[in-house]
Amino acid sequence: MGKILIKNIKGLVQYGEDLPKFRRGTEMNTLPILENAFLALQDGMIVAYGSMDDWGGITDWRDLEVIDAEGKYVLPAFCDSHTHTVFAKSREEEFVDRINGLSYEEIALKGGGILNSARKLAEMSEDELFEQAMNRIELLKTYGTGALEIKSGYGLSVEAELKMLRVVKRLKAESGIAIKATFLGAHAFPIEYKENHRGYIDLIINEMIPKIAEEGLADYIDAFCERNYFSVDEMAEILEAGAKIGLRPKVHVNQFSALGGIKKAVVMNALSVDHLEELIDEDIDALKDSDTMATILPSCSHFLSIPFGDAKRLMENNIPVALASDFNPGSTPSGNLQFVWSLACVKMKMTPEEALNALTINAAYAMDLTATHGTISVGKQTPILITKEMPNLAYIPYAFGDQHIERIIA
Ligand code: NIG
Ligand code: FE
Repeated sequence: MGKILIKNIKGLVQYGEDLPKFRRGTEMNTLPILENAFLALQDGMIVAYGSMDDWGGITDWRDLEVIDAEGKYVLPAFCDSHTHTVFAKSREEEFVDRINGLSYEEIALKGGGILNSARKLAEMSEDELFEQAMNRIELLKTYGTGALEIKSGYGLSVEAELKMLRVVKRLKAESGIAIKATFLGAHAFPIEYKENHRGYIDLIINEMIPKIAEEGLADYIDAFCERNYFSVDEMAEILEAGAKIGLRPKVHVNQFSALGGIKKAVVMNALSVDHLEELIDEDIDALKDSDTMATILPSCSHFLSIPFGDAKRLMENNIPVALASDFNPGSTPSGNLQFVWSLACVKMKMTPEEALNALTINAAYAMDLTATHGTISVGKQTPILITKEMPNLAYIPYAFGDQHIERIIA
């Protein structure tokens, strides 16, 4: 990659040294922007930045690529801390069913939903899954995504869960961006275990988890804690088995109902609790003084026409909030975080600054990438976004649906 100098930057966004590991509550409205700035990178690492007025950082101009960012913003790439980017097929038929009046839960109860994706994935080869996921990641990069968490959970058998995680392992090596793998065997009960939850949980704990440990296939463990899916106790048992092999929880909770999963996950040292469309006082109390990141997925709410997570209430209670896409074929067939930014502002009344903190520094924390991602700091090997020319940064969430990113340097 060599040396790159970006000069005349209209605003260098989310920069600084000795920054906190995340911003919580009202601090989320703070977003450092340095006007008329430069940024120097060497082999992808940030080596200097500052104001164009007190210029002087670069002494060796040989082999230097100079980019003029007049009128443009430079920011750290978005981190997407919750996705299901590996899947076999899209599910437009369920989309049409929902238009015609069925709910997500009704579709799932008649064999659609996650089980539909699992049937399709069982038939697809590891190579084909890999190719498809790689194509999706290439597209996500153009939208500004510079780090990605990817879950299993469309396997639901030992063989297919391992197949998904092996695909993620290959993506880690070949995608050119940071990727974290989450084991989500507890995404749904397969049909043959519908009346035998014990049997499937034993399969997860006694068969899947040991093999995942053996091959080093996961960084985190997840469970879909929801009525008709996994109860709080079932989730806790699975998270505990994951903790024994060093997997920290990042869980699906409170999408359709508040069952107490947030409190349990916080006690079990969850790195993040994700969805949170439904929130009760007990959930807020549990999150208040914890280091667990509350992660909201507004494009899922948009697509399923369910309530949006109450980010304002979380922030008012001094809780840190992250935003992620939830990219998956059932509830969120888009991984575009520029759209997520806009939805967060329009539908959840987050300010553009709060939402960008949620997509960068806080999202990096939610996938243990604070040391490398989420802010522009000297020494970080972080992917960088250069926007198109625009009047101000709020233009990105304002002019929704457009492509505002001109270039990602990853
Ligand atoms: O995060 N809610 C659980 N899992 C996914 C949806 C999975 C699917 O429908 O395929 C989600 O929304
Ligand atoms: Fe999800």
